[in-house]
Amino acid sequence: MLHELNPFRPGAGVRPPELVGRQPEIDLVDLMVAKSRVKRNDGGLIIYGLRGVGKTVLLNELHRNVERAGWVTIQFEARPGSAGPIAARQSLGRGVAMAGRRMARFRSAVEDVKTAVSTVSSFALTIAGVSLNLGVAPSDHRANSGLIEVDLEELVADLAGPLQKNQSALAIFVDEMQDLDADLLTALLAVQHKATQSDWPFYVIGAGLPTLRRTMAEARSYSERFALHEVGALTHDSAIEALEKPARELGARFTRDALEEIVRESQGYPFFLQTYGKAVWDITPDRNIDLDVAVAGIAEGNADLDQGFFPARWDRTTPAERQYLRAIVDVGGSTASTAAVADHLGVAAASVSPARQSLIEKGIIYAERRGYVSFTVPNMDRFILRQPDTDS
Ligand SMILES: Nc1ncnc2c1ncn2[C@@H]1O[C@H](COP(=O)(O)OP(=O)(O)O)[C@@H](O)[C@H]1O
Ligand SMILES: [Mg+2]
Repeated sequence: MLHELNPFRPGAGVRPPELVGRQPEIDLVDLMVAKSRVKRNDGGLIIYGLRGVGKTVLLNELHRNVERAGWVTIQFEARPGSAGPIAARQSLGRGVAMAGRRMARFRSAVEDVKTAVSTVSSFALTIAGVSLNLGVAPSDHRANSGLIEVDLEELVADLAGPLQKNQSALAIFVDEMQDLDADLLTALLAVQHKATQSDWPFYVIGAGLPTLRRTMAEARSYSERFALHEVGALTHDSAIEALEKPARELGARFTRDALEEIVRESQGYPFFLQTYGKAVWDITPDRNIDLDVAVAGIAEGNADLDQGFFPARWDRTTPAERQYLRAIVDVGGSTASTAAVADHLGVAAASVSPARQSLIEKGIIYAERRGYVSFTVPNMDRFILRQPDTDS
């Protein structure tokens, strides 16, 4: 068995050997491209789900597809905390600058391109203090108000014509979108809304935690301009394919019961599938992966998860936060009402809200519904139960 050829790849944002079960999102973006060619814009796309389900990988795939179709793109990851807003504006400003450089080479509508590039320069300067040298001075009246929503709308309005005449569009890809500050989020939603009404070729494609579903519901009229897709565990058949196909391509095969055992244990979660797949491949003595190997591999995989995937979050918590997490498990498992958690800890809700807030900022829990918190990682509750309680 060629262990070096191990096709399975657990890791944040690491492309799997076979991207299964994501055709609806891929098709939707292909349709976006096709409609955009005939100057029609039906809005952007928001993908939400827990950690480890494959949002980043899917976003990267969609990004690659639209770049191949000739779109101009900006891609960045939002960050939590007080440094987040500045970092996001820097990424946006730099991304727009790169987009401007690409557009400067457009061959159609040269005068319009010049105007657009001058707006690009002014936007990059205003939003991020980035000075561009594209042979055109920054506009002194467009995208220079310092109000992100106004400036972004003017930018998109001025880019629309040249993009369309060059069979292109502008897409902004935002990962970890739940961490975007309210101003920038509102600006992106509002400008998507405006672009859809005006059929400007502009698209926001975002991914993040399930909190986004609530955020979008609260943004009402704007959220109509987005397709909202939940990505989660793979279906049984897709999970089987995620294991079987890469193995087959390398001349190895799983027995049916081995496949079923791995899929059952993973519950279809992509990160777990990759972890078990990798562990099984590492220990199998030959090209035939049977149930015994699968069971042993799953044990190895679980040990790896307990060393990496779970502690990546748990190890960053304070004793008070760990008590809060244990209380969630005690009262609810993977989801609990915040009132019940406080009650269980025997304190007033207000006194534990700093711990809750900080756990949300650390990306360990999220508040999908008002008054409830859930773990962002599948099976975190089971991991916590395995940890010795040394804090109380
Ligand atoms: N559709 C898929 N099929 C199989 N494995 C996948 C799929 N999507 C993602 N993965 C794997 O799952 C893991 C987590 O992917 P990632 O995109 O980082 O998830 P998220 O961004 O949702 O936390 C990676 O190891 C990746 O290779
Ligand atoms: Mg991710």
